Amino acid sequence: SLRGERGGSAAMAVFVTRRIPAEGLRVLSQAAGCHVQLWDSEEPVPRAELLAGVAGKRGLLCLLSDRIDREVLEAAGPGLKVISTMSVGFDHLALDEIKKRGIRVGYTPDVLTDATAELSVALLLATCRRLPEAVEQVKNGGWTTWKPLWMCGYGLSNSTVGIIGLGRIGQAVARRLKPFGVKKFLYTGSRPKPENAAEFGAEFVPLTRLAEESDFIVVTCALTPATQGMCNKDFFSRMKKTAVFINTSRGAVVNQEDLYDALVQGRIAAAGLDVTTPEPLPTDHPLLSLRNCVILPHIGSATHATRSTMAVLAADNLLAGLRGDPMPSELPL
Ligand code: NDP
Ligand code: DGY
Repeated sequence: SLRGERGGSAAMAVFVTRRIPAEGLRVLSQAAGCHVQLWDSEEPVPRAELLAGVAGKRGLLCLLSDRIDREVLEAAGPGLKVISTMSVGFDHLALDEIKKRGIRVGYTPDVLTDATAELSVALLLATCRRLPEAVEQVKNGGWTTWKPLWMCGYGLSNSTVGIIGLGRIGQAVARRLKPFGVKKFLYTGSRPKPENAAEFGAEFVPLTRLAEESDFIVVTCALTPATQGMCNKDFFSRMKKTAVFINTSRGAVVNQEDLYDALVQGRIAAAGLDVTTPEPLPTDHPLLSLRNCVILPHIGSATHATRSTMAVLAADNLLAGLRGDPMPSELPL
Protein backbone atom coordinates (compact mmCIF):
# COMPACT_ATOMS: atom_id res chain seq x y z
CA SER A 1 0.00 0.00 0.00
CA LEU A 2 2.79 2.43 -0.71
CA ARG A 3 2.07 5.11 -3.26
CA GLY A 4 4.24 7.77 -4.79
CA GLU A 5 7.94 8.30 -5.10
CA ARG A 6 10.51 6.16 -3.39
CA GLY A 7 13.82 7.54 -2.23
CA GLY A 8 14.39 10.95 -0.77
CA SER A 9 16.85 13.03 -2.73
CA ALA A 10 14.26 15.65 -3.72
CA ALA A 11 14.29 18.88 -1.72
CA MET A 12 10.72 18.34 -0.56
CA ALA A 13 10.46 14.57 -0.21
CA VAL A 14 7.91 13.69 2.45
CA PHE A 15 6.50 10.54 4.01
CA VAL A 16 2.83 10.47 4.98
CA THR A 17 2.06 7.64 7.40
CA ARG A 18 -1.63 7.08 6.59
CA ARG A 19 -4.36 7.75 4.06
CA ILE A 20 -5.60 11.10 5.39
CA PRO A 21 -8.63 13.06 4.14
CA ALA A 22 -8.29 13.84 0.42
CA GLU A 23 -8.25 17.61 1.00
CA GLY A 24 -4.97 17.28 2.88
CA LEU A 25 -3.36 15.01 0.30
CA ARG A 26 -4.43 17.44 -2.42
CA VAL A 27 -2.58 20.29 -0.72
CA LEU A 28 0.60 18.22 -0.78
CA SER A 29 0.22 16.87 -4.30
CA GLN A 30 -0.42 20.37 -5.67
CA ALA A 31 2.61 21.91 -3.97
CA ALA A 32 5.40 22.54 -6.45
CA GLY A 33 8.37 20.26 -5.84
CA CYS A 34 6.70 18.22 -3.12
CA HIS A 35 7.22 14.49 -3.58
CA VAL A 36 4.87 12.44 -1.47
CA GLN A 37 5.37 8.85 -0.40
CA LEU A 38 2.12 7.70 1.16
CA TRP A 39 1.31 4.69 3.33
CA ASP A 40 -1.96 4.37 1.46
CA SER A 41 -3.99 2.48 4.02
CA GLU A 42 -6.58 3.06 6.73
CA GLU A 43 -4.44 0.90 9.03
CA PRO A 44 -1.31 2.12 10.81
CA VAL A 45 1.98 1.79 9.02
CA PRO A 46 3.94 -1.19 10.40
CA ARG A 47 7.02 -0.11 12.30
CA ALA A 48 9.45 -1.53 9.71
CA GLU A 49 7.64 0.32 6.90
CA LEU A 50 7.71 3.54 8.92
CA LEU A 51 11.46 3.22 9.44
CA ALA A 52 11.99 2.49 5.73
CA GLY A 53 9.54 5.14 4.56
CA VAL A 54 11.03 7.99 6.52
CA ALA A 55 14.61 7.26 5.40
CA GLY A 56 16.10 10.22 3.57
CA LYS A 57 12.93 12.32 3.81
CA ARG A 58 12.82 16.03 4.61
CA GLY A 59 9.31 15.95 5.99
CA LEU A 60 7.11 13.53 7.92
CA LEU A 61 3.34 13.80 8.28
CA CYS A 62 2.25 11.45 11.05
CA LEU A 63 -0.66 10.58 13.34
CA LEU A 64 -1.00 10.06 17.08
CA SER A 65 -0.71 6.29 16.55
CA ASP A 66 2.85 6.64 15.21
CA ARG A 67 5.48 6.68 17.95
CA ILE A 68 8.13 9.09 16.70
CA ASP A 69 11.18 8.35 18.83
CA ARG A 70 14.93 8.31 18.45
CA GLU A 71 14.84 5.15 16.32
CA VAL A 72 12.58 6.84 13.76
CA LEU A 73 14.67 10.01 13.75
CA GLU A 74 17.84 7.98 13.22
CA ALA A 75 16.19 6.01 10.43
CA ALA A 76 15.18 9.30 8.81
CA GLY A 77 18.71 10.66 8.90
CA PRO A 78 19.95 14.24 9.18
CA GLY A 79 17.85 15.46 6.24
CA LEU A 80 14.60 15.41 8.27
CA LYS A 81 13.59 19.02 8.94
CA VAL A 82 9.88 18.95 9.70
CA ILE A 83 7.43 16.70 11.53
CA SER A 84 3.76 17.54 11.16
CA THR A 85 1.30 15.59 13.27
CA MET A 86 -2.38 15.50 12.38
CA SER A 87 -3.33 15.91 16.05
CA VAL A 88 -3.24 18.46 18.82
CA GLY A 89 -1.78 15.93 21.25
CA PHE A 90 1.96 15.41 20.90
CA ASP A 91 2.73 12.84 23.60
CA HIS A 92 3.67 10.39 20.81
CA LEU A 93 6.59 12.62 19.76
CA ALA A 94 9.98 12.44 21.54
CA LEU A 95 10.29 16.21 21.71
CA ASP A 96 13.71 16.27 23.40
CA GLU A 97 15.23 14.16 20.60
CA ILE A 98 13.41 16.19 17.97
CA LYS A 99 14.58 19.50 19.41
CA LYS A 100 18.17 18.28 19.67
CA ARG A 101 18.14 17.71 15.92
CA GLY A 102 16.73 21.13 15.10
CA ILE A 103 13.55 19.60 13.61
CA ARG A 104 10.44 21.80 13.58
CA VAL A 105 7.05 20.43 14.64
CA GLY A 106 3.57 21.32 13.41
CA TYR A 107 0.31 20.25 15.10
CA THR A 108 -3.43 20.97 14.86
CA PRO A 109 -4.76 22.97 17.83
CA ASP A 110 -8.06 24.94 17.77
CA VAL A 111 -9.57 23.34 14.65
CA LEU A 112 -10.71 20.29 16.64
CA THR A 113 -11.68 22.04 19.86
CA ASP A 114 -15.42 22.31 19.09
CA ALA A 115 -15.77 18.74 17.83
CA THR A 116 -13.89 17.31 20.80
CA ALA A 117 -15.78 19.40 23.36
CA GLU A 118 -19.06 18.35 21.76
CA LEU A 119 -18.08 14.67 21.97
CA SER A 120 -17.02 15.15 25.58
CA VAL A 121 -20.48 16.50 26.41
CA ALA A 122 -22.15 13.70 24.42
CA LEU A 123 -20.14 11.12 26.34
CA LEU A 124 -20.90 12.78 29.66
CA LEU A 125 -24.64 12.79 28.98
CA ALA A 126 -24.59 9.24 27.61
CA THR A 127 -22.78 8.08 30.74
CA CYS A 128 -24.70 9.96 33.45
CA ARG A 129 -28.10 9.23 31.89
CA ARG A 130 -27.07 5.63 31.05
CA LEU A 131 -27.97 5.81 27.36
CA PRO A 132 -26.10 2.73 26.03
CA GLU A 133 -27.59 0.61 28.82
CA ALA A 134 -31.07 1.98 28.20
CA VAL A 135 -30.88 1.39 24.45
CA GLU A 136 -29.81 -2.18 25.18
CA GLN A 137 -32.85 -2.67 27.47
CA VAL A 138 -35.18 -1.63 24.65
CA LYS A 139 -33.58 -4.16 22.34
CA ASN A 140 -33.42 -7.10 24.74
CA GLY A 141 -36.90 -6.85 26.27
CA GLY A 142 -35.75 -5.37 29.57
CA TRP A 143 -38.23 -2.54 29.00
CA THR A 144 -41.42 -3.99 30.47
CA THR A 145 -43.25 -0.87 31.63
CA TRP A 146 -42.57 2.64 32.96
CA LYS A 147 -41.00 2.13 36.38
CA PRO A 148 -40.37 4.87 38.94
CA LEU A 149 -37.05 3.43 40.11
CA TRP A 150 -35.70 2.15 36.82
CA MET A 151 -32.80 3.52 34.74
CA CYS A 152 -32.23 6.55 36.94
CA GLY A 153 -28.99 8.42 36.60
CA TYR A 154 -27.53 11.79 37.50
CA GLY A 155 -28.23 15.19 35.92
CA LEU A 156 -26.18 18.36 35.55
CA SER A 157 -28.68 20.74 37.08
CA ASN A 158 -27.28 22.29 40.28
CA SER A 159 -24.13 20.20 40.03
CA THR A 160 -20.44 20.90 40.58
CA VAL A 161 -18.28 20.14 37.56
CA GLY A 162 -14.52 19.69 37.86
CA ILE A 163 -12.38 20.19 34.77
CA ILE A 164 -8.87 18.72 34.84
CA GLY A 165 -6.94 20.93 32.39
CA LEU A 166 -8.79 24.14 31.56
CA GLY A 167 -7.13 24.48 28.17
CA ARG A 168 -8.76 25.00 24.77
CA ILE A 169 -10.93 21.88 25.01
CA GLY A 170 -11.56 22.18 28.75
CA GLN A 171 -12.90 25.70 28.33
CA ALA A 172 -15.05 24.66 25.37
CA VAL A 173 -16.53 21.84 27.50
CA ALA A 174 -17.31 24.23 30.36
CA ARG A 175 -18.91 26.69 27.91
CA ARG A 176 -21.22 23.93 26.65
CA LEU A 177 -22.06 22.55 30.10
CA LYS A 178 -22.87 25.89 31.73
CA PRO A 179 -26.35 26.21 30.13
CA PHE A 180 -27.34 22.83 31.65
CA GLY A 181 -27.58 24.59 35.00
CA VAL A 182 -24.18 23.75 36.48
CA LYS A 183 -23.89 25.51 39.84
CA LYS A 184 -20.12 25.58 40.24
CA PHE A 185 -17.04 24.91 38.12
CA LEU A 186 -13.74 23.80 39.65
CA TYR A 187 -10.54 23.31 37.69
CA THR A 188 -6.99 22.19 38.20
CA GLY A 189 -3.78 22.51 36.21
CA SER A 190 -0.20 23.60 36.58
CA ARG A 191 -1.26 27.14 37.49
CA PRO A 192 -4.41 29.26 37.93
CA LYS A 193 -5.73 30.90 34.76
CA PRO A 194 -8.00 33.67 36.01
CA GLU A 195 -8.48 35.14 32.54
CA ASN A 196 -9.85 31.83 31.20
CA ALA A 197 -11.73 30.88 34.35
CA ALA A 198 -13.65 34.16 34.66
CA GLU A 199 -16.20 33.21 32.00
CA PHE A 200 -17.36 30.29 34.18
CA GLY A 201 -16.55 31.72 37.58
CA ALA A 202 -14.38 28.61 37.85
CA GLU A 203 -12.29 28.14 40.96
CA PHE A 204 -8.71 26.83 40.83
CA VAL A 205 -8.32 24.00 43.36
CA PRO A 206 -5.89 21.18 44.10
CA LEU A 207 -6.67 17.86 42.41
CA THR A 208 -7.71 16.32 45.75
CA ARG A 209 -10.35 18.98 46.38
CA LEU A 210 -11.60 18.73 42.80
CA ALA A 211 -12.04 14.96 43.30
CA GLU A 212 -13.85 15.40 46.61
CA GLU A 213 -16.30 18.12 45.60
CA SER A 214 -17.21 17.41 41.97
CA ASP A 215 -20.36 15.64 40.79
CA PHE A 216 -18.86 15.37 37.30
CA ILE A 217 -15.18 15.27 36.47
CA VAL A 218 -14.00 15.85 32.92
CA VAL A 219 -10.35 15.21 32.04
CA THR A 220 -9.14 17.43 29.17
CA CYS A 221 -5.46 17.89 30.01
CA ALA A 222 -2.43 16.90 27.96
CA LEU A 223 -0.59 13.66 28.76
CA THR A 224 2.72 14.63 30.37
CA PRO A 225 4.97 13.00 32.98
CA ALA A 226 3.00 15.01 35.58
CA THR A 227 -0.43 13.86 34.42
CA GLN A 228 0.42 10.21 33.66
CA GLY A 229 -1.52 7.97 36.04
CA MET A 230 -2.87 11.04 37.85
CA CYS A 231 -6.36 9.55 38.18
CA ASN A 232 -5.43 6.67 40.47
CA LYS A 233 -6.73 4.82 43.51
CA ASP A 234 -6.29 7.81 45.81
CA PHE A 235 -8.09 10.07 43.33
CA PHE A 236 -11.06 7.72 42.82
CA SER A 237 -11.35 7.04 46.54
CA ARG A 238 -11.81 10.76 47.17
CA MET A 239 -14.64 11.04 44.62
CA LYS A 240 -18.28 11.03 45.66
CA LYS A 241 -20.08 7.70 45.29
CA THR A 242 -22.56 9.47 43.03
CA ALA A 243 -19.95 11.17 40.83
CA VAL A 244 -19.32 10.54 37.13
CA PHE A 245 -15.83 10.48 35.59
CA ILE A 246 -15.19 11.40 31.94
CA ASN A 247 -11.84 11.20 30.10
CA THR A 248 -11.34 12.56 26.58
CA SER A 249 -7.63 13.37 26.92
CA ARG A 250 -5.31 10.37 26.79
CA GLY A 251 -5.81 6.92 28.29
CA ALA A 252 -2.56 6.99 30.26
CA VAL A 253 -3.79 9.85 32.48
CA VAL A 254 -5.92 7.17 34.15
CA ASN A 255 -4.79 4.12 36.09
CA GLN A 256 -7.31 1.74 34.51
CA GLU A 257 -7.00 -0.98 37.17
CA ASP A 258 -7.82 1.58 39.85
CA LEU A 259 -10.74 2.86 37.77
CA TYR A 260 -12.04 -0.67 37.32
CA ASP A 261 -11.92 -1.30 41.07
CA ALA A 262 -13.71 1.98 41.81
CA LEU A 263 -16.48 1.14 39.32
CA VAL A 264 -16.92 -2.47 40.42
CA GLN A 265 -16.99 -1.57 44.10
CA GLY A 266 -19.46 1.24 43.50
CA ARG A 267 -17.02 3.83 44.87
CA ILE A 268 -17.97 6.08 41.93
CA ALA A 269 -21.18 6.04 39.89
CA ALA A 270 -19.93 5.71 36.32
CA ALA A 271 -17.16 6.47 33.84
CA GLY A 272 -17.11 7.50 30.18
CA LEU A 273 -13.86 7.08 28.28
CA ASP A 274 -13.02 8.15 24.74
CA VAL A 275 -9.38 7.16 25.26
CA THR A 276 -7.87 4.02 26.81
CA THR A 277 -4.65 2.11 27.24
CA PRO A 278 -4.02 0.42 24.97
CA GLU A 279 -5.94 1.58 21.91
CA PRO A 280 -7.81 -0.34 20.71
CA LEU A 281 -8.89 -1.76 24.06
CA PRO A 282 -8.93 -5.59 23.79
CA THR A 283 -12.54 -6.75 23.42
CA ASP A 284 -12.17 -8.98 26.49
CA HIS A 285 -10.96 -6.12 28.71
CA PRO A 286 -12.63 -6.15 32.18
CA LEU A 287 -13.82 -2.52 31.78
CA LEU A 288 -16.03 -3.63 28.88
CA SER A 289 -17.93 -6.00 31.16
CA LEU A 290 -19.21 -3.15 33.34
CA ARG A 291 -22.66 -1.62 33.03
CA ASN A 292 -21.47 1.69 34.40
CA CYS A 293 -18.60 2.24 31.98
CA VAL A 294 -19.15 3.73 28.51
CA ILE A 295 -16.19 3.39 26.16
CA LEU A 296 -15.81 5.07 22.78
CA PRO A 297 -13.03 4.40 20.21
CA HIS A 298 -11.16 7.75 20.40
CA ILE A 299 -13.61 9.69 18.23
CA GLY A 300 -13.34 13.12 19.88
CA SER A 301 -12.42 14.98 16.69
CA ALA A 302 -14.31 12.68 14.32
CA THR A 303 -16.57 14.93 12.30
CA HIS A 304 -16.13 14.99 8.52
CA ALA A 305 -15.41 18.72 8.51
CA THR A 306 -12.97 18.63 11.43
CA ARG A 307 -10.91 15.74 10.09
CA SER A 308 -10.71 17.44 6.70
CA THR A 309 -9.60 20.71 8.30
CA MET A 310 -7.03 18.88 10.44
CA ALA A 311 -5.57 17.21 7.34
CA VAL A 312 -5.29 20.52 5.47
CA LEU A 313 -3.68 22.21 8.47
CA ALA A 314 -1.22 19.33 8.88
CA ALA A 315 -0.33 19.59 5.18
CA ASP A 316 0.03 23.39 5.37
CA ASN A 317 2.24 23.08 8.45
CA LEU A 318 4.44 20.56 6.67
CA LEU A 319 4.85 22.69 3.53
CA ALA A 320 5.56 25.87 5.48
CA GLY A 321 8.21 24.04 7.48
CA LEU A 322 9.82 22.63 4.35
CA ARG A 323 9.95 26.10 2.81
CA GLY A 324 11.39 27.64 5.94
CA ASP A 325 8.29 29.80 6.42
CA PRO A 326 6.32 30.33 9.64
CA MET A 327 3.84 27.49 10.11
CA PRO A 328 0.12 28.15 10.60
CA SER A 329 0.40 26.11 13.84
CA GLU A 330 3.93 25.41 15.02
CA LEU A 331 4.64 23.77 18.35
CA PRO A 332 7.19 25.90 20.19
CA LEU A 333 10.05 23.58 21.29
P1 NDP B 1 -4.33 22.68 25.69
O1 NDP B 1 -2.84 22.71 25.67
O2 NDP B 1 -5.08 23.90 25.33
O3 NDP B 1 -4.82 22.22 27.13
C1 NDP B 1 -4.15 21.27 27.87
C2 NDP B 1 -4.39 21.57 29.31
O4 NDP B 1 -3.74 20.56 30.10
C3 NDP B 1 -3.84 22.91 29.76
O5 NDP B 1 -4.87 23.69 30.25
C4 NDP B 1 -2.87 22.53 30.86
O6 NDP B 1 -2.96 23.41 31.93
C5 NDP B 1 -3.40 21.19 31.29
N1 NDP B 1 -2.41 20.54 32.12
C6 NDP B 1 -1.09 20.42 31.93
N2 NDP B 1 -0.52 19.86 32.99
C7 NDP B 1 -1.52 19.60 33.86
C8 NDP B 1 -1.56 19.01 35.14
N3 NDP B 1 -0.46 18.59 35.74
N4 NDP B 1 -2.76 18.88 35.74
C9 NDP B 1 -3.88 19.31 35.14
N5 NDP B 1 -3.88 19.90 33.93
C10 NDP B 1 -2.72 20.02 33.30
O7 NDP B 1 -4.74 21.45 24.75
P2 NDP B 1 -6.17 21.11 24.11
O8 NDP B 1 -7.24 21.54 25.04
O9 NDP B 1 -6.21 21.58 22.73
O10 NDP B 1 -6.08 19.50 24.10
C11 NDP B 1 -5.93 18.80 25.30
C12 NDP B 1 -5.66 17.34 25.06
O11 NDP B 1 -6.83 16.69 24.62
C13 NDP B 1 -4.63 17.02 23.98
O12 NDP B 1 -3.32 17.08 24.50
C14 NDP B 1 -5.01 15.62 23.56
O13 NDP B 1 -4.27 14.68 24.30
C15 NDP B 1 -6.47 15.50 23.92
N6 NDP B 1 -7.35 15.40 22.75
C16 NDP B 1 -8.15 14.30 22.61
C17 NDP B 1 -9.02 14.20 21.57
C18 NDP B 1 -9.90 13.01 21.42
O14 NDP B 1 -10.17 12.63 20.30
N7 NDP B 1 -10.37 12.40 22.50
C19 NDP B 1 -9.13 15.23 20.55
C20 NDP B 1 -8.25 16.36 20.78
C21 NDP B 1 -7.39 16.42 21.86
P3 NDP B 1 -1.76 24.42 32.24
O15 NDP B 1 -1.73 25.41 31.15
O16 NDP B 1 -2.11 24.96 33.57
O17 NDP B 1 -0.51 23.58 32.27
C1 DGY C 1 -5.65 14.73 19.03
O1 DGY C 1 -5.70 15.52 18.06
O2 DGY C 1 -4.73 14.76 19.85
C2 DGY C 1 -6.77 13.77 19.21
O3 DGY C 1 -6.52 12.78 20.12
C3 DGY C 1 -7.34 13.22 17.95
O4 DGY C 1 -7.89 14.25 17.21
